Amino acid sequence: MALTASRIEITPTDAALGAVITGIDVSRSVEPEVILQLKQIWRDRHLLIFKNQILTDDQLLAFANYFGDILQQPAYVRKGETEEYLPPLVLTLANAAPEDSSVNIRPNYQELLPHIDHYWLPVPSSGSFLYAVEVPENGPNTYWVNLAQAYDELDDATKQQIAGLQVRYFNFYGSRDRDEYGNPKYAAGRAPEPGERVAIHPLVRTHPDTGKKILFFNAASDVDIVDYDHVEGAKLVAKLQEHIKQPRFAYRHQWSKGDLLYWDNQATAHYRPEFDANATRILKRVSLRGSRPF
Ligand SMILES: [Fe+2]
Repeated sequence: MALTASRIEITPTDAALGAVITGIDVSRSVEPEVILQLKQIWRDRHLLIFKNQILTDDQLLAFANYFGDILQQPAYVRKGETEEYLPPLVLTLANAAPEDSSVNIRPNYQELLPHIDHYWLPVPSSGSFLYAVEVPENGPNTYWVNLAQAYDELDDATKQQIAGLQVRYFNFYGSRDRDEYGNPKYAAGRAPEPGERVAIHPLVRTHPDTGKKILFFNAASDVDIVDYDHVEGAKLVAKLQEHIKQPRFAYRHQWSKGDLLYWDNQATAHYRPEFDANATRILKRVSLRGSRPF
């Protein structure tokens, strides 16, 4: 198999994270120097943006494997079914909801609040790939948030307040109540519903590769803080939900067909607004196995 050209071009975005990579066809074998270079940029910029790629599912998996093992999401029972469903390694995310869609409860065109993929597992993914198979013109943008910067820019009192706190997260679609801003309400002491996953993670995570402190926070689901005053906890969570949405922490991605994005779930969150339910938007996602947050 031919190797790709070793001269890739790297253009950092003018946002808080992200770099556009050109001069590479990721469907083919990639030279060792290029892989090492990509890993380095990924650590520095948290998000790689490849343009104009044409990939089969196997080629997407093969490229992702340069960076780690593929995450197998656990089986679950889909709404209205009785048999367990094992999600495929390559998930199709489509508002048209084809058969292998990961859509469980909510249709895929509804707003996604800032979240970290797989925060609801005890061992979340290290990173995710998203490949645009078909996207509407002027379709919804996706925003990625630099959670290292979001941590750095907290005031000292808040940094002291959150040091050592553990957060209990309910799974993504478990949010039952929203506040006046559309954010999930603080779920003080709420018991998990049948089949609902709950995971506990440090609110401040140390990045396993860079050692940077990360505000490891998911603003999309029900959440509470372990062994913490309910009133203070609710205030803190509401503050952090708004904090991470500040535009200066974010890169806004306008999708084109053939885009492949690879981001660090250990240092970023992402979100996108609701969009037209009738627009055809098909993306494929692969995630990598990570390690227990510390
Ligand atoms: Fe996501």
